[in-house]
Formats: sequence, structure tokens, C-alpha cells
Amino acid sequence: MCGIVGVLGTHEVSPIILEALKRLEYRGYDSAGIATVDQGNLDRRRAVGKLINLSDFLVHNPLPGHSGIGHTRWATHGEPSVVNAHPHQAGTVAVVHNGIIENFKALREELAQHGIGFETETDTETVALLTKHYLDDGMSPRDAAEKTISRLEGAFALCFLFDGEEDLLIAARKGSPLAIGHGDGEMFVGSDAIALAPMTNKVTYLDEGDWAVVTRAGAEIIDKNGNRANRDMKEINIEATQVEKGGHKHFMSKEIAEQPTVLGQAINHYLNTEGTAITLPEGTPDFAKIERITMVACGTAYLACLTAKYWFEQVARIPVEVDIASEFRYREPPIPANTLAIFVSQSGETADTLAALRYVTEQGAQTAAVVNVPESSIARESDLTLPILAGAEIGVASTKAFTCQLHVLALMALKAARDRQIIDNSELHRNLVNLRNLPGLLNVAIGRGDAVKKIAKKLSESQDVLFLGRGPMFALALEGALKLKEISYIHAEGYASGELKHGPIALIDKHMPVVVFAPSDSLFDKTVSNMQEVMARGGKIILITDAAGAKEAGEDVWQTIVMPEVDDFLAPILYAVPAQQLAYFTAIAKGTDVDQPRNLAKSVTVE
Ligand code: F6R
Repeated sequence: MCGIVGVLGTHEVSPIILEALKRLEYRGYDSAGIATVDQGNLDRRRAVGKLINLSDFLVHNPLPGHSGIGHTRWATHGEPSVVNAHPHQAGTVAVVHNGIIENFKALREELAQHGIGFETETDTETVALLTKHYLDDGMSPRDAAEKTISRLEGAFALCFLFDGEEDLLIAARKGSPLAIGHGDGEMFVGSDAIALAPMTNKVTYLDEGDWAVVTRAGAEIIDKNGNRANRDMKEINIEATQVEKGGHKHFMSKEIAEQPTVLGQAINHYLNTEGTAITLPEGTPDFAKIERITMVACGTAYLACLTAKYWFEQVARIPVEVDIASEFRYREPPIPANTLAIFVSQSGETADTLAALRYVTEQGAQTAAVVNVPESSIARESDLTLPILAGAEIGVASTKAFTCQLHVLALMALKAARDRQIIDNSELHRNLVNLRNLPGLLNVAIGRGDAVKKIAKKLSESQDVLFLGRGPMFALALEGALKLKEISYIHAEGYASGELKHGPIALIDKHMPVVVFAPSDSLFDKTVSNMQEVMARGGKIILITDAAGAKEAGEDVWQTIVMPEVDDFLAPILYAVPAQQLAYFTAIAKGTDVDQPRNLAKSVTVE
């Protein structure tokens, strides 16, 4: 949510900052801007909309300079406009910001008492004006920035640039991630290591409450108590190709297609060489001692948790609570002894999930992070981290992260079942054999995309779509509906199949497509009855099932997508593919912006 960059370079920095912003555009695309210092002069360029608009603007209005900062915005305070775009400049300081300054109104009032007026509706302008105020009082840039940072409440990552200072950036982190990159005679600041990847793979992550004085000679880091801090420099392995589309039209289609590969690699990582045992990281609890699991997440990650609830309860016989992080954090639920709290997040930076983790940590419970970014805040603040190993996910709609989250949660459920002696070794082996066959089945499912595409074309004419499923397929129905509304803007709702007759059935008519996820498992007959209820009222069923299910469902089904046969336990991972493809091809048919849907951003670092 908002991406920020800072560069102290040896060449012109505008093109470098643009390249880094391109890699951060997934965090927001309402506006973008760059400020540089050239021969001592601070100047900036800003444009509304996607980065391409800024890049075009720079062609005719170049911005020279070897030092600079840049920003790609997801609007929080104030509409997307040039005046509200970052960098915000006040006198001799410019600043870029990710997050929310919660006390900005109080600070505005204080500044107004000094006769200081405002040009924008943003919280960030307060930061620039406050710094200018301290500079006008005679403070040095370093002292003015330090004093400003100490006055700010809320969640933020900031980068300051000063007129007349070609070798100085000040960076600060509280609640929003920030990395410092080390180059050869150059230094960088970025919201994440992906942004910095073309420039350097040597990265230092700021800790919560740190701020840093960055010059070309290095970074001086000061911790939240005002002491000099030594933070490790890590070598990050991000392949350039991970952040390119690799021949696909969209990141989303690339990321759907990557699932067999990344899942195969993750399976190899978490199983022993013979494929007969699960090797989770040291510190993974003995589930025989765990009496209860609480799982907390947002959005698609929450739906991965909801799927895993069925697994932990049915296969490992552990009671599980699943919660949306934004609800959990303010409900202050009691956490009984011997609870394992699992936090699932692709980015590892989602503000509500992080706050929920901190609440549980305060309660003294054991915490585990299931994340895609192992250096993320959620990973670093949890007792245990289980990386999902999906590789960089750039498309705003989560796809491969979802299936890789499910994979790790499935392994945890199987380990739990074995620890608690609910299953024996031969049952475990049977499941692991099935798991190792899963990438092949995912390939087959992806290969059936053309059939999904034809159906999606019809679906794109609908105003509303219902998604139904039973058991773990209920969670997938919610995920299918979320994906569709997120990228095609078609209104969609997911329901448990059995809930339909308790209200939503009133919506059914000949205009209402109903997507049903139903492999031919023990619940299939129940779902067929629910489908009959829909068809009897003129509703149009799109059934996603296997060959046996397609045969049993009969002739009246409007459209059928046939999946390869899969073990019941793993079906939610396989059936995620048509859910993703249905949304993807519908969005394509409607001509919406698949990778950067309106109003959204990846990595939601604000509440
Ligand atoms: C939907 C989607 C979001 C995220 C949610 C949580 O396609 O991507 O719903 O799943 O914002 O994000 P993470 O997993 O980064 O915590």
C-alpha cells in the first residue's frame, strides 16, 4: 500500500527511481511522483494515475539529479490528484510516505497556530510542513527530521530529501516496512527488496521504530530508544524474472500457470528426500500438546485459514477458530492455554494481521507465521515461520500464494494428525503420495483453461453470480466470489450450499449463474440436491466437478468444468485453479485491469 523509494546514486536517478516504482506499483497506482536534488536544487514531478503517466510526463519535463525519492500512491487521505500526489514538498524538504499519520489533525492545528497553511488534503503534507517548521527554527535537516519523526503517531515508512543536500536521505519505519539497499558508492531505500533488486541484493531491514541517516558512505541506524543500532545486512535472492511477466499478458495468468512449479518446489522443500516424512522447521510444536488452534488473516489468506479449519478439525481432531484480523484485534478474545495461533499472510505486512499477532503475543500464546515474505514483520515477530515459497506474487489478486498457503496448512494438519496419533504412518504416506501427485494434477487443471474461458465469456454478461460449496469447498466458494468481484467488478457472493434455502435462494432466476464447486466426495449428493433446488427455479448451474460428478449431476446443468480426479483432502488446492481462471477470463472478457483492479492495492499496510 503505497511504495516508496530513495536513491543516492552516481548517475541520473530518475530512470532508476522509475524502474523501482514499476516494481512497487502493485502497492498502489492512484498517482506517482519523483523529487530530486540537482546542483543543490530540490524539484519534483507528479502525475495522476498509473506510473506510465509520470514516465510520459518526465519525457517532456525531465528531472535531472543524482539523488532522489519516489512514490506510487494508494490514496488514503484525499482524492487521487496531482496536488495530493507525493512527494510532498514544503520549502526545502520533500517527503514520501507509506501508511497513515493518525495525529495529523492535531499537528495541522498546531501548525495552523503558527500561521502555516495547507495545500493538500493529505496526512503526509503535515510531515513536510512540520519538518519545514523545525528547519525554519534553525535545526539541521537531520535534527528537523528526527524531531518530526518523534512527533508522529500511526503507521508509517518515510523518506526525506532536502534542498542543498545531495548526499542525504533520512528514512524512518514504524508499522510499515522499509529496507535500505547497499550499492557500490550508492545507497537505496525501498518499501521492499523487490524494488531494489535491479540495483542491489544487499539489504538491511529497518526494525520497528528505527530511523536512519543514509549517505553514499552507508547508513547510520538509530533505534526507537535513540541508540545507534547494528542491523544485519542480508543478501536477498530475488531473480529478475520473478518480477517480469515471462511471456504472459498479465502477472495473474503467469502466477496461475506457475502453481505446479512453485508447489512442486515447496513440496520438495517440506518433505524428506524419500517423500515419506514431513520436515517442518525447528520449533514446530508437538501437536499432541496443542489443545486449540486460532487462525487469523485477511481476504484470501483468511479463506485459506477457513479451508484449513476443516483439515485440522476433521483430520487432526483439533478445535479451530478462524477469524478476520480486523475483527479479532479489537474483540480482544481470551486465548486459552495450549493454543497455537497461526497468522497467514502473503505479504507478511498486513496491518490488521500484524496487530492481531501482537495482541496474541501479549497474551503469551505460541505464534506461527505462514507467510510468503520471510523477512516480513509478521514473520519476524512470530515464534515460528513457515514460508510458503510461492515466489514474488505481483498480481493484486492472490493466486499462487493461496494454493501455497493451503499446502503448508495441509502439511501442518497432517503432522498434527500424526502427532496426535489420529492417523498412522501408512495413512500419512498415502497422503504424501497424493501430495506429490498434486503438481501434475494442477497442470492438467490449468490445461483445461480453454473450457473455462468459454464459460467465462458467458459469465461476463451477468450482473450477479452466486458461488456454492460444502465442507472445504464452502471456503473455496467464498474465494471464487472474492476473486470474481475483485477483478471483474461483477457482484458475487459465496454461500455454503446448505445455506441457500435460508435466504439467498430468493435471488435465483434465469439471469443468475450459480457456480458450484463439488468433487464427487461424500457430500456430493447433498450438493446435487441443492443444485436441483436452483435449477427448479430457473437458475443456471456452472458445475465444477470430476468426471464421476459430471455424470451423476445429469443433463440439466448449464455448464460443466471437469477436473481430474483428486483425493478429497487435497481437492480445495486443485479446485482453486478453475476458481482463479473463471475470474481471470471473465475479467479479460469484460476488459477490466486484471493486475491492477480499481481501488485496490497489494500489501494492505493501513487499517
Ligand atoms: C485477494 C487478495 C487479498 C489478500 C489480503 C491479505 O485476492 O489478494 O484479499 O489476500 O489483502 O493479504 P496478505 O496475504 O498479504 O496478508
